Amino acid sequence: MDRRHVLKIGAATALLTGSPAVLAKRSDESADVVVVGSGGAGLTAAITAFDLGVKVIVLEKMPITGGNTQLSAGGMNAAETVIQKKKGVEDSWKTMYDDTMKGGKNINNPQLVEILAKNSAGSIDFLLSLGADVTDLGRMAGASVNRTHRPTGGEAVGHNLVHTLRQNAIKRGLDVRTGARVLKILSDKQGKVAGVEAEDRNGRKYKINAPVVILACGGFSANLERVTKYRPEYAGFSSTNQPGATGDGLDLAAALGAKLIDMEQIQIHPTQAAGSKILITEAVRGNGAIMVNREGKRFVDELTTRDAASAAVLKQTGKSAFLLFDQDIRKSLKQIEGYYHLELVKEGETPQELAKACGITDGGALAATIKKYNDYQAAKKDEEFGRADMPRPIKTAKFAAIEIRPGIHYTMGGVKIDTKTRALRAKDEQPIPGLYGAGEVTGGVHGANRLGGNSISETITFGRIAGAEAAAYAKAARKKV
Ligand code: FAD
Ligand code: FUM
Repeated sequence: MDRRHVLKIGAATALLTGSPAVLAKRSDESADVVVVGSGGAGLTAAITAFDLGVKVIVLEKMPITGGNTQLSAGGMNAAETVIQKKKGVEDSWKTMYDDTMKGGKNINNPQLVEILAKNSAGSIDFLLSLGADVTDLGRMAGASVNRTHRPTGGEAVGHNLVHTLRQNAIKRGLDVRTGARVLKILSDKQGKVAGVEAEDRNGRKYKINAPVVILACGGFSANLERVTKYRPEYAGFSSTNQPGATGDGLDLAAALGAKLIDMEQIQIHPTQAAGSKILITEAVRGNGAIMVNREGKRFVDELTTRDAASAAVLKQTGKSAFLLFDQDIRKSLKQIEGYYHLELVKEGETPQELAKACGITDGGALAATIKKYNDYQAAKKDEEFGRADMPRPIKTAKFAAIEIRPGIHYTMGGVKIDTKTRALRAKDEQPIPGLYGAGEVTGGVHGANRLGGNSISETITFGRIAGAEAAAYAKAARKKV
């Protein structure tokens, strides 16, 4: 009986019996580069390496590609870009660097931040060349200027980005597999990477021999057990992440002796819709929304960094607050339509009516808060909280609000890498030959607090570097054989 026939019978029997054990054993395979994870970092690295002429296999454990990148909302930060120039926004890589270091409380790795900022404009060019739409500009918290790039009309960035990367992978005939979980990174006697052991969706294990593995398998915000190991105070918090964000990459790397850094630096995002998994993008505040508490009062600079904004929300009655906007802000950002579609928004013709609709106890206080904010906006000076950017007043009925509370969003810590994205050993901080890392699985870029928009920027920039470095390493390894 030929092998295809065995596979067919095996699959049919498995369907009938539910037992994967009857499937034929998978043969081992070979590649130059194995990429673990198919989010922004993984697909970018894979496309880059493939274009440099090496054989790449991408393994994704979930049934679909895209990871958290697919969910990303507000946009991608970049400085000195063609888009900023077209719109007359003055920016510099140094300002992006300074904002990122300040946001991260200066514990970021300065060399990695410099790479992030200096290469960000090139990463926008890279995405435009692949066909992505990153032509709208906005601002997210902690940024000095408008540098958050996103699709036309303020659509969410993730869908467009992942669609573009997928299309480019398909066009190239890249080998991208879903339902393929990496269980172990293999190494030889000298400690050099030798491939991976993976498991397919039927539970069958197989090996891919390869001199290079790029870890691009994301963070661990969806793994509450791992989160609370480092931050017990987050017990019971909800997460904004996709369920595959469990931190497998940390275990895979640590088993090869890799150094993990900043593991306790875990970000909670202030505006997850209360009682749901839906993240309300920071771009709503960037486009003019304010936050008020149950008593109808503002309590924080809405564009402060996420750690400070989340801490402020948690001090309010019921540990939640309301994100408040009007119809002009709604029109300025297409993502808001999605929140209406999901029935997360409450409305009123007047502030008093809105207060009643969403359970704010003092409608008069809410009306006074909105008036005071509009006065600050007109005078371009927020006397109470020092908010730097107030792009619009809140004046056009219907007035609208979404109840929000903080959710576990991003893990700043991870595998320590050098400027070539090589994973470093714990014992001597030397590179583990053949092991690379890019994106949320790594640590060091964001320090103690990531700025909104900087992760997508990181995934593209460090994904490009990892792809290029991995291809060069694999070609050199070929010559040695
Ligand atoms: P991911 O995109 O998460 O991809 C990692 C992939 O690896 C996943 O698909 C995972 O299933 C897979 N994987 C894990 N373990 C294994 C294994 N053992 N074997 C095989 N595959 C594995 N950042 C911004 O900069 N701007 C934004 O607007 C923004 N909005 C966001 C909105 C939401 C709701 C969320 C959750 C995050 C947002 N972020 C944003 C953060 C950003 O999206 C992520 O940090 C970033 O996309 C991570 O990219 P990545 O490629 O490193 O990982
Ligand atoms: O709020 C957001 O759109 C999320 C952005 C980010 O995590 O960078």
